[in-house]
Amino acid sequence: MSLAQPENKTGQRLLLTPGPLSTSQTVKDAMLIDIGSWDIDCIEVVKKIREGLMALAPGSETCTLLQGSGSYAVEAVLGCAVSDSDKLLILNNGAYGNRMRLIAEASRIPFQIHIDPEDTPHDPKVLDEILDADQSITHVACVHGETTTGQLNPIGELGDIVKKHGRRFIVDAISTFGSYPIGTGEEIDFERGPIDHLIGSANKCVEGVPGFAFILSKISAVQAMKGQARALSFDIFHQWEYMERTGQFRFTPPTHVLLAFEQALRELDAEGGPEARGQRYKKSHQRLVKGMRELGFKPYVKPEHQSHIITAFYFPSDRFEFSSFYECLHKEGYIIYPGKLSDIDTFRIANIGQLDHEDVDGLLQAIQRVRLELKSW
Ligand SMILES: Cc1ncc(COP(=O)(O)O)c(C=O)c1O
Repeated sequence: MSLAQPENKTGQRLLLTPGPLSTSQTVKDAMLIDIGSWDIDCIEVVKKIREGLMALAPGSETCTLLQGSGSYAVEAVLGCAVSDSDKLLILNNGAYGNRMRLIAEASRIPFQIHIDPEDTPHDPKVLDEILDADQSITHVACVHGETTTGQLNPIGELGDIVKKHGRRFIVDAISTFGSYPIGTGEEIDFERGPIDHLIGSANKCVEGVPGFAFILSKISAVQAMKGQARALSFDIFHQWEYMERTGQFRFTPPTHVLLAFEQALRELDAEGGPEARGQRYKKSHQRLVKGMRELGFKPYVKPEHQSHIITAFYFPSDRFEFSSFYECLHKEGYIIYPGKLSDIDTFRIANIGQLDHEDVDGLLQAIQRVRLELKSW
């Protein structure tokens, strides 16, 4: 398919979305080779990716790759980690916490849910009380960056509480992995957690393309999944055990996506790792919020809880229509995202992927032109 070339400075469409996102030309070029799934080339790529991901997550002991999107990995982990005699506590303050609930219902996983308002991070004190009161809860699952709003949950402090009560901890870091450092003294720390499974996906802040997700785990936590899978393709223990033994996926791997991801990992390293990438995103995010405020848009999340990944903005007036706003920006080559909040009208702009503060300036200028054209705020 050939897409009309937009008029922004890059001459290419810019995805201001939380993944898929704009990728580098070299990541795209890496996919122009065919490799077989049993090929030694593929085995080598899988090995490098697993090692590369573990290097980004000190304290993790092993890594399992799974075909599919981020939700597939969340579904697989919850379905294998929590047995029929266990009980999962889901912390929910947005669409992705809610997706865990939908997964638990579909997979008949015994669970309980704690819901916080969409603009409120989970409170470790409340978690402490819940775990104190209910000894039957064996696992706690939580989203790090809730993409619905762009809000961060305090994984480190929540992990301290999970550790105090000796329960297992599952973290969905799908939106943040690759742009927030992991390790000693950081917010995400496998020891502090103690995180049993941390889930990420190929097309977010590592800046690959969609097609697989990954799970960084403690080995004992993967071993504890043996025989507990609720579906064959989602059997993480088998996938891991097979990968350890053969270096391969159990079933057909997304070969081109793996090649792109291997290149994306190299580029993340060359940029200076998650810390440096996080700084680039932060700069873009600060520019975005400042410029949007000047244009009449207010962010939904309080600055102290806001991630540098994605920002939800209130509609600026009653006359504002997201569809015409979106279409005008689309013509200029900027792709933004609708809102996902339950009751409040918002839209979202992400600033992850191959773009920087200058691209954000280009977007802000385009929004200025759209404002004059639409006159709806
Ligand atoms: C925090 C979080 N969890 C889960 C998902 C689901 O991932 P996917 O849409 O790749 O299935 C997303 C997707 O944006 C996400 O941001």
